[in-house]
Amino acid sequence: MILVTGATGEFGKHAVQQLMKKGVNVSDISILSRGMEKANNYKEDGITVKIGDYTNYDSLVKAFKGVDKLLFVSSSEIENRAEQHQNVVKAAKATGVKHIVYTSFMRKQERDNSAIAFLQDSHLKTEKWIIESGITYTFLQNATYLDMLPMFIGEQVLETGVIMQPAGNGKSSLVLRQELAEAAAVVLTSEGHENKAYPLVNNQAISYNEVAEIIAEISGKDITYQSPSSEEYQAALKNYGVPDEYIGLFTAFSIAQSNGELEMSDNSLEKLIGRKPTTAKDFLTKIYA
Ligand SMILES: NC(=O)c1ccc[n+]([C@@H]2O[C@H](COP(=O)([O-])OP(=O)(O)OC[C@H]3O[C@@H](n4cnc5c(N)ncnc54)[C@H](OP(=O)(O)O)[C@@H]3O)[C@@H](O)[C@H]2O)c1
Repeated sequence: MILVTGATGEFGKHAVQQLMKKGVNVSDISILSRGMEKANNYKEDGITVKIGDYTNYDSLVKAFKGVDKLLFVSSSEIENRAEQHQNVVKAAKATGVKHIVYTSFMRKQERDNSAIAFLQDSHLKTEKWIIESGITYTFLQNATYLDMLPMFIGEQVLETGVIMQPAGNGKSSLVLRQELAEAAAVVLTSEGHENKAYPLVNNQAISYNEVAEIIAEISGKDITYQSPSSEEYQAALKNYGVPDEYIGLFTAFSIAQSNGELEMSDNSLEKLIGRKPTTAKDFLTKIYA
């Protein structure tokens, strides 16, 4: 039995779809949800819905009974993520889960002074706890989702004609979330991924300058990229009424990009999905053409 957590979210949803597409019988798939009403579509498909919350260890122990492979989708609650993940790993150990496939985050090196250390910290801890548990693992060290690019550059970019990010000339190896979920399904349904960590990145990294050039080319509009200081950027976002939480997140990602932390070359994703990952240009063309 495979259990997919986070299946009410985007990544988990795609992963379940890919498992079904690969011929896994619905009777061999279960999902974890915080509420039954959120998972009605799965019930209709004949998939077993287990109710559980990362904050509630006992609910996880109940949900993980009889599970062989766990697709552990990392929590979206960054501040509480480490504690929540510790519950998941402990419950997996207590119930005899045989293989954990964990959605981690790409990293070039472990740096305490990284702008995104606050995001990386819980992933590093979780990987360590999983290794210490002795359970067979596969770590999917996912790049930043390409799907988030329109949000980073501003939904009104065609009207404003300006992309503003304090990322300098830094590049990011962005990947479509759907393709990362497809890779997870491949790992769950094939052999040879035991105790491996895969950096899942797009080999064609892209800078905001290049993003601006591509959108200008496909839309026929003038689009320019400006890289202000972090302080100027944050002041501008505050002026637009962007919530502080987002300002912090966007700035951190941009600084990491500017420092070269989000650019990596690795072909694990291509090998897993059996084709070249969708490029940022293909993705942008679909949106802005
Ligand atoms: N690589 C990247 O660029 C990137 C970007 C964003 C996020 N992420 C990470 O990747 C994960 C999956 O991405 P996504 O796009 O699928 O995120 P998403 O759509 O926000 O889905 C998050 C999933 O986690 C579940 N979840 C949150 N807190 C939980 C808890 N306490 N107990 C049990 N389940 C809980 C949510 O359940 P509910 O439906 O009940 O809320 C939802 O199913 C995120 O959670 C985050 O850790 C990566």
